[in-house]
Amino acid sequence: MDVVGPLERGLAVLRVMSAPGGHRMRPSELARATGLARSTVDRVVATLVHLGHLREIDREVELAPPLMEPGNAYLAGCGIPDALGPVAERLADEFDESVSVAVPDGDGVRFVTQITRRRTMSLAFRIGDLLPAERCAPGPLFATEWDEAARAAWLARRASPERFPEHFPAVPARPPVEAEEFDRRVAHAAADGWAADDQLIEPGLIAVAVPVRGPSGRAACAVSVVSHTSRHTVASLAEATLPRLREEAGAMEAALARVLAERASGGPGAAAAPPAGADPARTAKRELGPEFLQSLARGLTVLCALDGTRSLSEVAESTGLARATARRALLTLEHLGYVEHAGRDFRPLPRVLELGYAHLSSLGFAEIVQPHMADLVRRTHESASMAVLDGDDIRYVARVPAYKIMSVDITVGTRLPAYATSMGRVLLAGLPHTERAARLAGADPRPITGRTVTDPAELATIVEGAAEQGHAFVDEELEEGLRSLAVPVRDRAGQVVAALNVATHAARGPVEETLAALLPPLTETASRIEADLRAVTRGRRLRLP
Ligand code: PHB
Repeated sequence: MDVVGPLERGLAVLRVMSAPGGHRMRPSELARATGLARSTVDRVVATLVHLGHLREIDREVELAPPLMEPGNAYLAGCGIPDALGPVAERLADEFDESVSVAVPDGDGVRFVTQITRRRTMSLAFRIGDLLPAERCAPGPLFATEWDEAARAAWLARRASPERFPEHFPAVPARPPVEAEEFDRRVAHAAADGWAADDQLIEPGLIAVAVPVRGPSGRAACAVSVVSHTSRHTVASLAEATLPRLREEAGAMEAALARVLAERASGGPGAAAAPPAGADPARTAKRELGPEFLQSLARGLTVLCALDGTRSLSEVAESTGLARATARRALLTLEHLGYVEHAGRDFRPLPRVLELGYAHLSSLGFAEIVQPHMADLVRRTHESASMAVLDGDDIRYVARVPAYKIMSVDITVGTRLPAYATSMGRVLLAGLPHTERAARLAGADPRPITGRTVTDPAELATIVEGAAEQGHAFVDEELEEGLRSLAVPVRDRAGQVVAALNVATHAARGPVEETLAALLPPLTETASRIEADLRAVTRGRRLRLP
């Protein structure tokens, strides 16, 4: 088989970095862990950095949120988070316990949705984490559908327990489960239509699961309710939740069938078509030369474009690649277990979530924005901050100070009146008109310096201007000598969720020069933050601090 080498090596690097503790590594460590030559690692890293999947920090490289795109494409295509997410939320509220949704993945079970409640006592799994079938509640449900080959693969894997940590890094290793014991649980699952986990992962952690069938009649996924022995036994958990789970299973199957039908017919559930045409790998190759591995870039582009079942022609068209190139990438991805094909159709497998998804999907807001703000500070030599609107105030949620003697002294949590700050003005500008007017009317603006604008009509005009221009500039209205420039940061729905600013000293120079120097890097940074937020908020809500 004609495997695309650079793609295979690039994915090997990403897998090493996806293992526990691997999300940030030196290239020399990567060479050691992958067994690849240092020069190969350098080219793989340069390519992945160029694509945005990795970023360089000091002398290390780190996984970056755009790497979630292949996983996001898989999740969108399988329809499960979109169809079942709302029901899972409702059930978690109703039971006041965690609810998760997992799909079969070889002889393992991979999480695609996690609604976490009351999780303080147990380890929490992340979207993308893989559990061994014999150590969790959904496993026996999926194993009822295994054929001879699948069972043989499971037996073979069980026979090499020393490889357990490498297969299932999210689960603490334990002596292997007896095959007869698992067979008994599979038989029960087949007879009863549900299965349980009685502390098979760790002491105290229990779960019950029911299958949710796809249009083919096979189990597309399983919904688990997860509790702790301090609140329930498996019997009491089953008694408390199974009737409702069974009731909702039908609704979930209907919802899944609906989402998949909508996607197939290009209806509301269908993914936005990726931009057709121009193969970006070609331009990058011209810019970066031999350091850029074109076929690695193209393989990842193919994986990102695979949001459900797609024919070779569709993949070639949506990526702008030649058919032969797209085909070689798809076959390599199939060989590596990320894609499967039937006839002319290819579809992504849940294993794509193995590529950094679990780590990246558990990043918090501050962790996502911080590297971008640090970069902004490096470029502008000024302090950068982020704030959200909180009543009539703005509240700082992130800050990276510039290393200067004279810089403004503000920390996370600091509140300032919205009307007198650049961030406040872009946040107010992001509100619907009526709400914006109400907030301005209720603000009771007072002079803070001799230059503070306090006239409500004038403030309304300024905020309107900020809405039109996409930025706000405040010149010594909050503090003598302090200038600040802010832009909005929007979520995937286009809603302004935060503001990003840089603060500078009036003595730095004329206003026009300050604006010309600061606005481009500020706007660029906001776009990068927005792209990361889009990647990490597919199928989950990100809590602002
Ligand atoms: C979980 O969602 O954390 C979970 C699910 C099934 C199990 C154990 C834990 O068996």
